[in-house]
Amino acid sequence: MKEIFEKARVIPVLIFSEPHVAAPTAAGLIAGGLPVLEVTLRTDSAWQSLDAIITQHPDAMVGVGTVLEPEQMVRAKKAGARFAVSPGFDPVLAEVAREQELFYLPGVATASEVMVARRHGFRFLKFFPAEAAGGRPLLQSFASPFRDIAFCPTGGVGVGNLADYLALPNVACVGGSWVATAGDMDAGDWSGITAKAKAAGGS
Ligand code: 3PG
Repeated sequence: MKEIFEKARVIPVLIFSEPHVAAPTAAGLIAGGLPVLEVTLRTDSAWQSLDAIITQHPDAMVGVGTVLEPEQMVRAKKAGARFAVSPGFDPVLAEVAREQELFYLPGVATASEVMVARRHGFRFLKFFPAEAAGGRPLLQSFASPFRDIAFCPTGGVGVGNLADYLALPNVACVGGSWVATAGDMDAGDWSGITAKAKAAGGS
């Protein structure tokens, strides 16, 4: 599964306020070469949006983000999500993900959190909130002690710093909401979303 993230390089983090924009947003991103999508469970529309993308875009690899509760992990698996992402590391969620056989990408922001996640068997971690927690200098500092850990920085990643993050040897991919914002979705700017996806490295 990590290989799929590595290949995609950029994972759009999607916050849907209306379920009807989910499928066209996904279509725009897929057309722009970004087929690995994270639907955040932050809005009332999230589950319906997830269903819409899974049903209408079997070519996408769709997961859920902002997972905070075990029930969300169980529901995501039932809904057909392929992976789950959390902002931080929670051993209870890690256990439920294992039981559900759902690929889990937990978040960390400090050396201690990396050590705890590593102890639980994780070698691929979200680094969140990337810019606020220390950005590229912190990831560079993690590289030497944590030689077996790859990161997906998210939070404050965008066009201005994307390439610099992706150039780090311990960065497998990046995530972010800039590729498809609420403004893009409200405006129905699907071609703009495709253009941003292509500019982010999709093809
Ligand atoms: C996340 O959950 O990964 C972040 O909220 C995305 O951060 P961004 O909006 O700064 O890209």
